[in-house]
Parts: sequence; C-alpha cells; structure tokens
Amino acid sequence: MNTARSAPTAPPEPRMSGQTVVVLGGSAGIGLETARQARGEGADVLLVGRDPDRLGHAAAEVGARGTAAFDATDPEQLRRFFAELPEPVDHVMVTAGGNYYTRLADLDFDRARRQVEDHIWLPLHLARAAVGRIRPAGTLLFMGGVQRRPGLGMIVSGALTAALPALIANLALEVAPVRANLIAAGFVDTPLSARLLGDDLEQRREQLRATLPVGRVVAPGDVAALAVHLMTNPVLTGGTYDIDGGQQLL
Ligand SMILES: NC(=O)c1ccc[n+]([C@@H]2O[C@H](COP(=O)([O-])OP(=O)(O)OC[C@H]3O[C@@H](n4cnc5c(N)ncnc54)[C@H](OP(=O)(O)O)[C@@H]3O)[C@@H](O)[C@H]2O)c1
Repeated sequence: MNTARSAPTAPPEPRMSGQTVVVLGGSAGIGLETARQARGEGADVLLVGRDPDRLGHAAAEVGARGTAAFDATDPEQLRRFFAELPEPVDHVMVTAGGNYYTRLADLDFDRARRQVEDHIWLPLHLARAAVGRIRPAGTLLFMGGVQRRPGLGMIVSGALTAALPALIANLALEVAPVRANLIAAGFVDTPLSARLLGDDLEQRREQLRATLPVGRVVAPGDVAALAVHLMTNPVLTGGTYDIDGGQQLL
C-alpha cells in the first residue's frame, strides 16, 4: 500500500462569485435552501417573500444582501422591484406559490384561478419584468411538479403540471440568451408539505422512506443543488428537470 501523502489540493473555486441571485419565495423551503447554497458558491442573494419577519430571519441566516417583502403574484409590484434594482442580476428563481388538490365536486374556482395565476401568469409577468435586468447567460428558474398521471383530486395541479414544461420551453426561446428552466419536484420535505399534510406528515415520510428507490425523503437541499447546477451550467435552457427520488417509477 502506498502511504505517501499527496500534496493538499486547493478547495474548488466557488462557481458563482460576482453573481447575484434573486429568490422570489426565498424565506422558506426550497427557495431558502437555494439561497444558502448559492451563497456557499460565492453569490450575493436578494430574497423576496410576503412575511417581513420570516424574510428578516432568513436573510440573517444566509447573509442575504437584501430583501423585499411583497406578493410575487402581483405584476405591478414585480415590475417595480426589477425596475428599481440598482444593477442587473444573474439569476431569478421563483418558489412562490403552492398547490391545490381537490375533487371536482369541491372545486373552489377562485382558489383554482389563483393557482393558475401563481403558476402560469407569474412566469410570464416575471419574464417581462425581469428579463432586461438579467445578464446574458443568466437564468430564470421555475418550480413545478411531477403529477403526470391522472388521479382523483389532481384536476388543477395535474393540468398545471402538464402546461408548465411547454410554457418554459417557449419562454426559453423568447428570453434568450437568458436561459429558462423548470424543476419538476415530487414530494419535498418543506414547510409547505408540512402544512399540506398536517398530522399525516410523519406517516408520509415513513412511507416514502420505505418505498422510494433512493430510500430517503427528498430534502430542500437536494432541490437546491439542482437549482444551482441549472444556474451554473451555461448550456441548459428550455428543459424540465425531474427530481423525485424515483417517485414516478412506483
Ligand atoms: N414541497 C414540495 O413537495 C413541492 C413539490 C413540487 C413543487 N413544489 C413547488 O415548489 C415551490 C416551493 O415550495 P416549498 O415547498 O419550498 O414552499 P414553502 O416551504 O411554503 O416556501 C415558499 C416560500 O415562498 C414564499 N411565498 C409563497 N407565496 C409567495 C408569494 N405569492 N409572493 C412572494 N413569496 C411567496 C413563502 O414566504 P411567504 O409565505 O412569507 O410569502 C416562502 O418563503 C412551490 O411553488 C411549490 O408548489 C413543492
């Protein structure tokens, strides 16, 4: 056995030095973890969320350069935020917006319309507001789901899941050379999932640990690592990237 010590290698260069990442929905869950990992790669981060207290805590936790508290689904506030940025940014990620699972008989059309606004109109308003403020080869990054099989209660979320890849692929042509990509996630263990599942959360985690091919629950940090990859690989655009621990194979 060769026991000679090799010379210590230098730590890898941070991949995002000098870059700025805006996370709309950056005070919790996947957005907060992406902000943390982008900071770890040397980026500055600007966090947006609605609750100013939660935003303040998140900003202190990751060392954000700035925060703005507003509803990202409001086109006028979005427009103003990007117009008032003192300098261009490199990446904009949107993790704002939730899910709506309901049977047809119980469908609340106002709530369903809000889901369409969050997932379909928000990317378009955002692209209009942000694209002139993003440096070339920067990215727009969106979140969707993997519920592609029809199921009871999936009528709204299933339709949005199907629509988003087409929307983002077309957007990628419109905003080039800025890139646009979609992350399609299965169950991720975030505050949103905790809110949706309530007392059933632990049971769901156990079920996923027992059945997913990867043998564990997907964490926000797993999705954040994919988000940072999509920001830093300069040839990825127009794509939908699944991350679900193999959930769709079951
Ligand atoms: N968790 C999952 O299993 C999963 C799976 C597939 C897709 N997704 C999607 O991934 C995205 C992120 O999910 P998550 O689980 O990380 O959610 P989360 O834990 O609830 O975090 C969402 C973040 O977005 C902010 N936010 C929500 N609505 C906003 C709005 N209208 N304007 C500005 N900020 C807003 C929240 O702060 P405030 O509430 O203070 O605004 C919070 O910082 C969502 O679009 C979700 O649908 C999640």
